[in-house]
Amino acid sequence: MENLKADWFTRARFGMFIHWGLYSMPARHEWIRHIEKISQEDYKKYFELFDPDLFNPKEWAKMAREAGMKYIVITTKHHDGFCLWNSKLTDFSAVKAPECKRDLLREIVDAFRAEGLNIGFYYSIADWHHPEFPIDKIHPDRIDPVEQNKKRDISKYNKYMSGQIRELLTNYGKIDILWFDGCFPVEQEDGSDHWDAANLAKMIRSLQPGILINERLAKRMTFTPYEIDIKTPEQKPPEKGIRDDNGNLVVWEGCQTLSGAWGYFRDELTWKSVEDLVIMLIQHVSRGGNMLLNVGPTSRGEFDYRAQERFEGLAAWMKYHGRSIHGCTVSPEWAKEPENCRYTYNPAANRLYVHCLVWPYSLLRLPGLAGKIKYAQLLSDCSEIKFIEEEDDVVLKLHGRTELSSMLRVPRPVMMRPNVTVPVIELILN
Ligand code: GLC
Repeated sequence: MENLKADWFTRARFGMFIHWGLYSMPARHEWIRHIEKISQEDYKKYFELFDPDLFNPKEWAKMAREAGMKYIVITTKHHDGFCLWNSKLTDFSAVKAPECKRDLLREIVDAFRAEGLNIGFYYSIADWHHPEFPIDKIHPDRIDPVEQNKKRDISKYNKYMSGQIRELLTNYGKIDILWFDGCFPVEQEDGSDHWDAANLAKMIRSLQPGILINERLAKRMTFTPYEIDIKTPEQKPPEKGIRDDNGNLVVWEGCQTLSGAWGYFRDELTWKSVEDLVIMLIQHVSRGGNMLLNVGPTSRGEFDYRAQERFEGLAAWMKYHGRSIHGCTVSPEWAKEPENCRYTYNPAANRLYVHCLVWPYSLLRLPGLAGKIKYAQLLSDCSEIKFIEEEDDVVLKLHGRTELSSMLRVPRPVMMRPNVTVPVIELILN
């Protein structure tokens, strides 16, 4: 059945993921405690010195809106257990960090709402700070886990977790998405989760009836089934989208990084170009999904220059091409993508968008589209593109030639590759 709650979400198509926390200080991956086996004691220095003196979430929110993003998902707490909000249940929070002393989450929520974006909270089930959270094989303190776990009681941690979720869903107004992650701890003997996902989901929905919950709250749905609103594959845009057993699209969102990590990683160099990112976004929407693009702000509270450059590039493209992204989805069956092109389709407007990943000089053949097109234009400037029909196909004439009188001999002006990251042709359908 269609999930009407998710309507805004599937129309939005583009969101901003933010991974921010103490790990932005070592700046060597958000899993730094795990990777370098940093002890609780040694990690404390980051808590004591964390000072986001340049933090101005209004700037973040403006960048997100200008890039055409319609919602954010912010890490309220990642695996290291550090909380960006004023949690009454722990001292390990931004409010208690001596150089910070601010409810960073409150400021982020206010700033993004003011720009008209919807709000999603990421919450990590795994918590490497909490004394009752089990020592599993990825825990940073994984020395002698059997002995250590004897002294740990996950039911106490569960109480903490549901208490925190209650805080998040009670004190920050309407929350649109709860995005779980870090579903690692060992299972109970019957294979179910220690935290009873089904009941937790019930509580969440009673606090925020319209909320969307992703699929990462339970390890195995057989034991603690709950209604999943969003599937969230990461790092690879699925080639064919995600469909259920009947072949229907499910609501899905691919999350992607700007570079190889989620938290700020100073020396990581595999940054995607603006063009890579635009193509990825198109790829997600053309396969019926959303793209949640991550940024890891620095510990001073800024998007670093590389991230800013990417957002500026996205904004430049989205200014002219938001129409081929927002409200769009997979193209109808009869529209088969030509080589080097991706289609997206807006069913409400009945318009089909041809994204030219490689610019086809002179002519572009669109198989099976004869009789379907009323008008064609280049989206960036809405200049007309003439076309002819050849049997089943439509052939777009990518040049400005008009039928000149036979007396005139002028060179045929070929249409230049438009000066945009990925050119888009808008087809207004009959
Ligand atoms: C991966 C990363 C984790 C990040 C998540 C976002 O699982 O390990 O740090 O939060 O992706 O989906």
